[in-house]
Amino acid sequence: MNARSPFFWGSATASYQCEGAWNEAGKAESLWDRYLHEAHLENGDVASDHYHRYREDIELMAKGNQNAYRFSLSWPRIILNREGDVNEAGVEFYSRVVDACLEFGIEPYVTLYHWDLPQYWQDEGGWLNPAVADAYVRFARVCFDRLGDRVRYWATFNEPKWFVASGYLIGNYPPGLNDPQLAIRAAFNVMYASACCVQVFRDGRFQGEIGIVHSFSPVDGIDETLETRIAMRYADNYCNNWIMDTAAKGEIPIDLLADLNKRYDLSFMSSRQLDVIADNTVDFLGLNYYSRTLVKPYTRGETSIVVNNTGASFKEKPRVVLKDWFEQVLDDPGMEVTAWGTEIYPDGLRRGLLDVYNRYHLPIYVTENGIGVVEEINAEPIDDEYRISFMRSHIEAIKAAMHEGADVRGYFAWSSFDLYSWKNGCEKRYGLIGVDFDRDLRRIPKKSFGWYRDFIARESTAE
Ligand code: NOJ
Repeated sequence: MNARSPFFWGSATASYQCEGAWNEAGKAESLWDRYLHEAHLENGDVASDHYHRYREDIELMAKGNQNAYRFSLSWPRIILNREGDVNEAGVEFYSRVVDACLEFGIEPYVTLYHWDLPQYWQDEGGWLNPAVADAYVRFARVCFDRLGDRVRYWATFNEPKWFVASGYLIGNYPPGLNDPQLAIRAAFNVMYASACCVQVFRDGRFQGEIGIVHSFSPVDGIDETLETRIAMRYADNYCNNWIMDTAAKGEIPIDLLADLNKRYDLSFMSSRQLDVIADNTVDFLGLNYYSRTLVKPYTRGETSIVVNNTGASFKEKPRVVLKDWFEQVLDDPGMEVTAWGTEIYPDGLRRGLLDVYNRYHLPIYVTENGIGVVEEINAEPIDDEYRISFMRSHIEAIKAAMHEGADVRGYFAWSSFDLYSWKNGCEKRYGLIGVDFDRDLRRIPKKSFGWYRDFIARESTAE
């Protein structure tokens, strides 16, 4: 483990969402490249052009007093083909990014997989194919070997729940499947791959810590009845426990397995794989927090998941029904929501952090937190008081949780600068810094950037 680092006040991005340069310097195609090109949808071909502007971006983070940068590595930029040939230009790019971070006094905090699977592996079945788990581990090994002398914080995956549910259960993300049996298979292969990656990291005696990043959504119920409590447990298993219990305790929740086993074929989970999962738990949990999940017991007579027409955004408030487990309440009259229908609920973070710490006793990093808004990129600085208020209230919630005993070691705003937000394109802006996508990709700080800079300065002198 590392000698204790200072609290990280940073910000985060992901390769596909910000780099652009989708086919430059030998980069292979990712499944997002293929899917968005074929569907003629807004894509990340250029995105924020971070590939060419990373130095300027990292320098800006340093000017903003940030001491950590969470970014991800593009697997198809680093590995050229199924044979595992390394693209030296890809490795060198990330090596330069890491060096720039260190030069500006910023801790590189690296996610190995933030959803951009190489298309050559999607052609072989993607996460349904156990061979992809093996290939992922070989990719991770290359990253540890080549960057591990300078990187001390690694996350195996970003948000397994989100990309597995969207890609294999709901079908609004590539590969566009909606089949629970396949989703279970993909979920298992991902969690197994994560454990194998931890094993390789430990066996190789690489420096630092390895964890996983989870799309954390603490579960609340509408009342105290037994039916609601049962619905809450189902919801917690679906939303959180299959990732956190599996990664942090090495156990897939047994009541979840018992329930799934009645409906689906789980015989593909071998005892050898379950042993690897049990033996290779993570050093820390990264939690991305946007909102909680409020649930009530299942009442409708159908067994489907309903998302809005395109599955692209949540402007139209979808009602999600998961089998006969629970219903998510998205339209409670007291809810304060963003334009995309996400509830703004900082106290969920305070209670959630305490709950996660008390359950797993592991260090926690809040690896994403932020608000997506349609913004005009004209006046400088861009006036985003709502983002300041969102960040302030969530940081207060973190401090309260720490005060009550949770071991939280960092906060990363999502996102460092405006970037491409998957099916929401570039319309949904999260950045502390604006990017002029329509003209010259110029970086224009928002008020939140200055607020965060001054806040960090005050925190550092108070330490
Ligand atoms: C979670 C994901 O990690 C990131 O890719 C996404 O853009 C943000 N949250 C915002 O939805």
